[in-house]
Amino acid sequence: MAITIPDISLNDGTTIPQLGFGVFQIEPKDTVAAVTTALEVGYRHIDTAEMYGNEAEVGEAVRVSGLDRGSVYVTSKLNNAFHRPDDARRAFDSTLAALKTDYIDLFLIHWPLPTLYDGDYVSTWKVLEEFQRDGRARSIGVSNFQVSHLQRLADEASVVPAVNQIEAHPYFGNDEVRAYGREHNILTEAWSPIAQGKVLDDPTVVDIAGQLDRTPAQVVLRWHVQRGDIIFPKSTTPKRIEENTRIFDFELDDAAMERITALNKGEAGRQGPNPDTFAYVPR
Ligand SMILES: NC(=O)c1ccc[n+]([C@@H]2O[C@H](COP(=O)([O-])OP(=O)(O)OC[C@H]3O[C@@H](n4cnc5c(N)ncnc54)[C@H](OP(=O)(O)O)[C@@H]3O)[C@@H](O)[C@H]2O)c1
Repeated sequence: MAITIPDISLNDGTTIPQLGFGVFQIEPKDTVAAVTTALEVGYRHIDTAEMYGNEAEVGEAVRVSGLDRGSVYVTSKLNNAFHRPDDARRAFDSTLAALKTDYIDLFLIHWPLPTLYDGDYVSTWKVLEEFQRDGRARSIGVSNFQVSHLQRLADEASVVPAVNQIEAHPYFGNDEVRAYGREHNILTEAWSPIAQGKVLDDPTVVDIAGQLDRTPAQVVLRWHVQRGDIIFPKSTTPKRIEENTRIFDFELDDAAMERITALNKGEAGRQGPNPDTFAYVPR
């Protein structure tokens, strides 16, 4: 049965499928197969990054799928070594060349790196504004931006990011950053939506899944959908790739939503790096 994935409107008038497919930690040699499976079972949104080393394979899978380029939403991200304006321009050209496309649907600053580049992510953001003006990036956004970083863009730049892609899952609600996004019309994209699998054995999640005859992953992904966030779970397992799409034909009631939300451990639940101090630059 074909699945219908809802579109969500962004602040720039475009739309994005609420469910996509993430390709972090998928080896380049495995990427064409994984993305091909995803497109076959109905995903129309792929989340990659220069840092993942598999943009070319994502582009290849989209091309060989036979789908119109316009029907597949593709996101990529500016790598941490390229925040200076001229480097960012070159890096964006390379991303489009790797994907073999003349535009990207969404381009993000991958990390704010507030301790590098004299703390200047605003100049970098203004270069992304250029990409949007010249039409090569339909939408632009940020990733891993904290409230203070978003506030600085609001004060010093002209375009409000369409999205902020941040770590969020039941163990790390990241609610302060999400609330800022809601107030300022910046959609939240929740990365590691199932905490790389770590929330799937949680007794509360397992209990709710049992009651609804769903899998723990489906329950957690559904919780994100009902919070209004955009998600793109990663898997290289065909059965799971398909399973993760079956989240639009059931609902969590308020009690189940609240029980999952209550699993939040605050900062202690964060699995990835803290964006205030993260300063990794791949060589
Ligand atoms: N902007 C950023 O800084 C940032 C950082 C991290 C991630 N992301 C994005 O977010 C995407 C998703 O995050 P993620 O890859 O870190 O983690 P995730 O999607 O939360 O979890 C992926 C892990 O869960 C397993 N899995 C997937 N579906 C499952 C299911 N139905 N049942 C049981 N296990 C399942 C996968 O295993 P198998 O593959 O073995 O099936 C994999 O080990 C990434 O791919 C990337 O696009 C962005």
